[in-house]
Amino acid sequence: MNKEITKLTCPYCGETKDTAEGLREHVFKSHKARGLPAPEGRIKLIINRAEYEFHVKPNWTLYYLIHDKLGLTGAKQFCDRGACGSCTMIVDGKPVLSCMMLAIECDGKTVETVEGIAADGHPLIEAYVNNHAMQCGYCTPGFVVTSKALLDHNPDPTEEEIVEALAGNLCRCSTYPQHPIAVREAAAKMKAAKK
Ligand code: FES
Ligand code: FES
Repeated sequence: MNKEITKLTCPYCGETKDTAEGLREHVFKSHKARGLPAPEGRIKLIINRAEYEFHVKPNWTLYYLIHDKLGLTGAKQFCDRGACGSCTMIVDGKPVLSCMMLAIECDGKTVETVEGIAADGHPLIEAYVNNHAMQCGYCTPGFVVTSKALLDHNPDPTEEEIVEALAGNLCRCSTYPQHPIAVREAAAKMKAAKK
């Protein structure tokens, strides 16, 4: 269930407000040069390379928009409080916890989900299967998306760098040792494909 959000955070300075009106007023006063965030709740964003326009409510999270409204159910909501990483999506090139980001903050941004990564045939998918880097699989989309963001910026990460990048992703089935192996295998395939 999507948690009711009682505070809205200014995307520019982090100040919180109780209402969308309050947030709009604050942004207008304090950040006029940067523009109001998504007036009237209409946002445009690119999800897995396709353009979308939505009318969103101020309390919708990015997770709720994409999982519950758009129907891309790959990301999972384990904790709904920014503690587990299972809801990770890539927003403008960076891994983010989609349960902690408001949809309205994503106006004009590019979002990548596990569905897009799988549709592209990214080697991580095969590497995760080859190395049994999952058990129940509930946490797996979050791990794959975080690993993809790592490989985008660092195509040949060390085991330590992988462990560090995945430190925010939790797995109740304790598949931790398999993730660096799978990511290293995907990195090797990407390297070989470039030759
Ligand atoms: S569901 Fe978002 S961090 Fe756990
Ligand atoms: S595979 Fe079950 S929670 Fe990670």
